[in-house]
Formats: sequence, C-alpha cells, structure tokens
Amino acid sequence: MPDSSSSARYSPALDDEAAWEWLIALSATARRMTEASTLPPEAQTPQAAGPDVQQWLDCLTPLAASPQWVVAQLGQSLDGRIATESGHSHYINGPESLVHLHRLRALADAVVVGAGTAAADNPQLTVRHVDGPNPVRVVLDPRGRVPTTLALFQPGDVATLHITGPQVAPLNSAAEQCCLPLNAHGQFQPHDVIALLAERGLHRVLVEGGGITISQFIEAQAVDRLHLLVAPLLIGSGRPGLVMTPIDTLEQALRPTMRSFRCGADTLFDVELRRS
Ligand SMILES: NC(=O)c1ccc[n+]([C@@H]2O[C@H](COP(=O)([O-])OP(=O)(O)OC[C@H]3O[C@@H](n4cnc5c(N)ncnc54)[C@H](OP(=O)(O)O)[C@@H]3O)[C@@H](O)[C@H]2O)c1
Repeated sequence: MPDSSSSARYSPALDDEAAWEWLIALSATARRMTEASTLPPEAQTPQAAGPDVQQWLDCLTPLAASPQWVVAQLGQSLDGRIATESGHSHYINGPESLVHLHRLRALADAVVVGAGTAAADNPQLTVRHVDGPNPVRVVLDPRGRVPTTLALFQPGDVATLHITGPQVAPLNSAAEQCCLPLNAHGQFQPHDVIALLAERGLHRVLVEGGGITISQFIEAQAVDRLHLLVAPLLIGSGRPGLVMTPIDTLEQALRPTMRSFRCGADTLFDVELRRS
C-alpha cells in the first residue's frame, strides 16, 4: 500500500483523481499479498475532498486492500430489469455508475460474463473510464455458442479465457479455451469457475452479468458482495435481474447487511453476501 510519505503528499483531502491514484496504489500492493487479510491500519480510508469522493472511497477501499474476493455487479431499473426484451441495455445507468463499473474492473483480476451478455453486447470488458489495469476477460459458454468473431476473442493486449463444456470442439480464436465439467443442468458449478481462476492467480473476480450468471453465482454462495446499481427508470418489461429458486415464505428470503450510496442519479446498494 502507499507509504506514509505518499499519503502525506495527498494530505489533507483527496480530490477524485488523487483518491483514485491512492486506491490503485493500495490495490497493487494488496494484489501481492497471498492470503485474505483484514484492512491493515495503513489502508484506512484517507479523508476525501467532498462527500461524493468519500462515498466511493469508503465503498472501494476494502476491495482494494484485500487480495481475494468475488463481487457481482448489476445495473437495473427501479422495476428490476437489466435490459429490454430485445436485449438492449446501453445504458440503464448513468455515467457515474459506468465509472464505478470501470473502477471495479481495474481492481479485479478477472471479469466474468455469461454467454448471453457476450453474444448480446459484444463487450470489450476493458478499463477505459479510469486509469488502471485491465482484468482477464472470462466468458462462460458451456455450449460454445458465442461467436468467435466477437471483440473479446480477437488478438490484442488483453487476455480472454473462454470456458466451455467438455463436448465443445476446439474453437478458432485468440482466446484461451478451457473446459469445465457441467452439472445435471448443463451448467458449470460457480465454485469450479472461481477455483479455475484461482489456479491461474486470478483471485479477485468481478462477475459482471447478466442476470442469469449472477443469480447462479449468488445461489451457489460464490459471491462476497453484490453491487446493485439501481437507476431511476421503469422499463416495464424485459430481461430480469436476479432470478433464483422460488421460496415459499418471506422468512426464507435473504436479508443481507447492506449500505447504500448515491452514484449520480443512481443508487448503489453494496450488499454483503455469504461465500461458502
Ligand atoms: N444492466 C446490466 O448491468 C447488464 C449486465 C450484463 C448484461 N446485461 C444484459 O443482460 C442480457 C444478458 O443477460 P442474461 O441474464 O440473459 O444472460 P447471461 O447471464 O449474460 O448469460 C447466461 C448464459 O451464460 C452461460 N452461463 C452463465 N452462468 C453459467 C454457469 N454457471 N455455467 C454455465 N454457463 C453459464 C449460459 O449459457 P447457455 O445459455 O449457453 O447455457 C447461460 O444461459 C443482455 O441483454 C445484456 O445486454 C445487462
């Protein structure tokens, strides 16, 4: 983490840019630690120049200071939709939420998306709205249905891991293909995905969507935190966010500890979940 002299340089209060520099330096140090740790005293969140900066620093410092985590993020409307029926989702959230997402990517070692998101959005999954390192991109594609013509699979500086089921023939792309076993529902066990990434030294994992993928990871207790960014809009139909196995009574509902932050016009719910 930054030494006391670099903290002093930013004293007494950090503006947005200086706060991000401080956080990304802390993150680089924590990446080199091998075991999960509590926030060291030197990593106490410094004082920020204003409440907006303080909020995101408070939210992200524990992630920057920890060498391993699984965070899921989802941007949804007030009525819990992440895209229209046709799959249009750009952009449900405002620019501040996009910056938050790119900060999460820069703090992560790997960013995971499902086949649905890869195919619908043709995303780059790189860090562009802030300065910071790109995570390894990971596509969960049990049936090998995602076209290898997508941007993710082209040669370039950022690595992509294409995880397929064992029956999928070798695919012709610049991505590394690797196989995981499928369960009775034809899906990977989320814990197998996390273990595969850990074997490759990827210990901080951002599960970026879509709803099906994040729901499976949460249901398997494979997520430490959910960052739910709720935008002030009603879509009224379309792709749902979280969809899990139905419960009968509200006593069975998850009632996690959470904090909320303003994120421009959106609200960020930082939800603490249990990883088994
Ligand atoms: N608002 C947001 O924050 C946000 C974020 C991301 C995406 N989106 C939007 O959401 C839509 C896509 O989301 P979605 O929920 O329909 O699909 P998705 O979660 O992106 O993809 C689901 C598919 O990915 C594969 N997959 C996911 N988890 C897996 C696992 N554990 N094991 C094996 N395969 C797994 C499966 O592929 P198979 O179907 O081949 O079995 C699964 O059906 C798009 O329209 C996109 O634009 C919105």
